[in-house]
Amino acid sequence: MLKIGILGVGAIGRVIATALDQQQLDAELVALADQDHARAECLSKELFGHPPVVSIDEMIERCELAVEAASQAALPEFVPKALAQGRDMLIMSVGGLLGREEWFRQAHERNCTIYVPSGAIAGLDGIKSASIGRIEFAQLTSRKPIAALQGSKYVVERGLQLDGFKEEAVIFEGTAEEAARAFPATSNVAASLRLAVDPAVPVRVRIVAVPGGSENVHEIRVHGEFGKLTMKVENVPSKSNPRTSQLAAFSAVATLKNLTRSLRVGT
Ligand SMILES: NC(=O)c1ccc[n+]([C@@H]2O[C@H](COP(=O)([O-])OP(=O)(O)OC[C@H]3O[C@@H](n4cnc5c(N)ncnc54)[C@H](O)[C@@H]3O)[C@@H](O)[C@H]2O)c1
Repeated sequence: MLKIGILGVGAIGRVIATALDQQQLDAELVALADQDHARAECLSKELFGHPPVVSIDEMIERCELAVEAASQAALPEFVPKALAQGRDMLIMSVGGLLGREEWFRQAHERNCTIYVPSGAIAGLDGIKSASIGRIEFAQLTSRKPIAALQGSKYVVERGLQLDGFKEEAVIFEGTAEEAARAFPATSNVAASLRLAVDPAVPVRVRIVAVPGGSENVHEIRVHGEFGKLTMKVENVPSKSNPRTSQLAAFSAVATLKNLTRSLRVGT
């Protein structure tokens, strides 16, 4: 059975750990790690299998596949350590992978695979297929409730008073790379789209603040040789973290399921 370790036991890590603990996958949860040790201990106690709470190094040592569900800030420590041990990885903080081609090169050299689940969007399968041909245009518009944007780097640095917004307003327009830097905790969808499309094609991102909104709504438009694709997801936020959509956690579990199954559906 595939041995899995998890870094980060927040909204996403908890869902993955619970799915593994309930034997929904043909895989075994062998360790948890989190900078908030008490939080990880608490989850471990709740789980039937009581996985050990260990350091990042030990978690990576014990597993065959290391799941990151922590933060962009965790990647500069986590990824090199996992690469050094030759571990496969599943990365949720996708924005932290942009501009890190050296990690992809090292993964290739060390025969490691980096899995990036679709996260809070759908349609990456079609976009990957479309990318075999020429892509002319790729755009993401994300509509987010005020609670999901409050405290983000961009909003704080610009002193945006989101509570005073009466109507929805575009607060950011730029490239996927700029979005990942400006909104490290909420721009993973932009980063996933960036990684799915040929690097030569710019990915334009708009972020819209929606007063009174309750869902994270992502709309992707891609035009190319294949034709046109429009994809819209209206995501219910996780109860424990309004920045995170439930679909993101489910997509991580679905990716792990895919790995342990002999029938794999979808591109
Ligand atoms: N790919 C996607 O579409 C998508 C969607 C939503 C969230 N995310 C990302 O997934 C990650 C996890 O999301 P979440 O909602 O579960 O977050 P969360 O804040 O609910 O939980 C994160 C956990 O990781 C721990 N952590 C954070 N940084 C750490 C570090 N450097 N070292 C050790 N532990 C650390 C925290 O203590 C916390 O327990 C975030 O980076 C988030 O932006 C990705």
